[in-house]
Amino acid sequence: MRIVVLVSGTGSNLQAVLDAVAEGTLDVEIAAVGADRPGAYGVQRAADAGYETFVVDFRAYDRRSDWNRALTDKVASYSPDIVLSSGFMRIVDEHFINTFEGRYINTHPALLPSFPGAHGVRDALAYGVKVTGCTVHIADAGVDTGPILAQAAVEVLDTDTEETLHERIKIQERRLLLETLGRISAKGLPAA
Ligand code: GRF
Repeated sequence: MRIVVLVSGTGSNLQAVLDAVAEGTLDVEIAAVGADRPGAYGVQRAADAGYETFVVDFRAYDRRSDWNRALTDKVASYSPDIVLSSGFMRIVDEHFINTFEGRYINTHPALLPSFPGAHGVRDALAYGVKVTGCTVHIADAGVDTGPILAQAAVEVLDTDTEETLHERIKIQERRLLLETLGRISAKGLPAA
């Protein structure tokens, strides 16, 4: 199973995937790791581990649709079975979704469909929920929408800040992501 991973930030989820592949506990082939901006630490992590990397810089394109097309073409050039959005903070358009239909997987730090968007942890905390968590799902053209593959719950503590809560969520998120990728690599994606 060939995977292209997309990141925008620090890439700690990506690191868990890189480590599991290196340890032989996850049987996937990482074809490349890409980002929407130069300097994403996740790309550095992948390069350090010897993987091919790329940047399709969002700011280098006047039109969002041109960036989407360039990203789609770049990702497609690696012929991935799965495209993983691992902290990739850009909305992709229907052209991208259609090209990788049913094969674009996203992780989100909340129990979808609650608290979609860029601030899932902050929004859950602000709402005052006592339990939140993380979701791995097949992404469609919406914002953090699409069929759910797996979820894990995380208790919210009275003392939590966005940072402490996100750190505990990310522990579960990494575990869930590895489990889900392992299951897909062994059994394939669930039928749509
Ligand atoms: C994860 O919680 C992801 O769900 C969210 O941003 C975080 C990315 O963390 N969208 P990292 O870049 O993998 O460290």
